Amino acid sequence: MAQNSRAVGVDIGGTGIKGGIVDLDEGVLVSDRIKVATPSGARPKDVLAAVQQVLTTLGAADEKLPLGVAFPAIVKNGRTLSAANVAEDWVGFEAEKFFEDGLGRGIHFANDADVAGVAEVRYGAARGRDGLVILTTLGTGIGSAMIHNGMLIPNSELGHLQRARHKRDAEAYAAYSAMERDRLTWKKWAKRLQWYYSHLEFLFSPDLFVVGGGVSKHADEFLPLLSLRTPIVPAVHRNNAGIIGAAALAAD
Ligand code: BGC
Repeated sequence: MAQNSRAVGVDIGGTGIKGGIVDLDEGVLVSDRIKVATPSGARPKDVLAAVQQVLTTLGAADEKLPLGVAFPAIVKNGRTLSAANVAEDWVGFEAEKFFEDGLGRGIHFANDADVAGVAEVRYGAARGRDGLVILTTLGTGIGSAMIHNGMLIPNSELGHLQRARHKRDAEAYAAYSAMERDRLTWKKWAKRLQWYYSHLEFLFSPDLFVVGGGVSKHADEFLPLLSLRTPIVPAVHRNNAGIIGAAALAAD
């Protein structure tokens, strides 16, 4: 396999930082999946050290392969503009430059849900689908990717939709972390998801919902409980979508 059909993806999340080497023809990991815990507080210098550790373990610290890094915040022109589940230091921070200086190499830097959406459109549940695909990741927060006819509309942040009655962001009410926090049964959680996806459906009339995040491996427990006009399917790459999509964007 040619070297240039591979790239490295690192997915920085609220609880773990995961990385792997990806075969871009197939959209699959060709290395071990390396995971370290996200340092408590998720401050920039600690996150950088954890990313370095992942790359060193992968044997991918040099510049031989393109490197994509995904982050759980709005990413605009290399700057992080929000910090829902990470330290406030990231708001208005030149994050891409910070990682490039710290790692001593170029990177491609993007929102975590956006890259997961790219992975599912290129290699997964939304492959070959025209129209509007909305991928949501249900994890610590809710991330979203909107992809129209294969084109990503970045930084949609649909986990922060609000509904007056709840007086809080959708993700505080319906993310997987809310299910764990409130010790909900699948059925009770599905009621919250029903509200969330019905609202998205009303606002955007998508052609397909893809549900990602680690909990998508239990999709059978909650997706059949939802009643929507729009087809809703689990992500194929689940927790690896961030790694695969970050690598794919880095090689573009
Ligand atoms: C952040 C998003 C991120 C999502 C999933 C949200 O809290 O605002 O940028 O994509 O969590 O990590």
